[in-house]
Amino acid sequence: MIGRINHVAIAVANLDAAAAHWHNQLGADISAPQILIDHGVRIAFVHSTNGQVELMEPYGEKSPIVGFLERSPDGGMHHICYEVDSIDIACKSLIKKGARLLGDGKIKIGAHGNPVIFLHPKDFNGTLIELEQTKHSGTE
Ligand code: CO
Repeated sequence: MIGRINHVAIAVANLDAAAAHWHNQLGADISAPQILIDHGVRIAFVHSTNGQVELMEPYGEKSPIVGFLERSPDGGMHHICYEVDSIDIACKSLIKKGARLLGDGKIKIGAHGNPVIFLHPKDFNGTLIELEQTKHSGTE
């Protein structure tokens, strides 16, 4: 079902400081920040040739990553995003196999303007998994 890893997301308390640090220390090429209101985060992508790291800071009062940063004030790995060809087919298959979708279970639009959904971390060894429907993903 899953294709390529699209990005690994890191929660940070201060996006601008983190982006500057990754740029200065690692020589990373970093995208302009963008706000994802529906997801309660402000993000920037650290580019590399075979994938991206998404740096994200809380945005708005109900940001879902506030609790994460309270537990890990220095930040840390928050989720892995896999590409899928069809998010509808992926969701139906996952639900049939007993996996739980996060939130209201509705598909949202993610950072790249593509449909995304999050899977419950308790179903995947404590790891939050995002699925993103892309045109160039691997197998479905
Ligand atoms: Co993501």
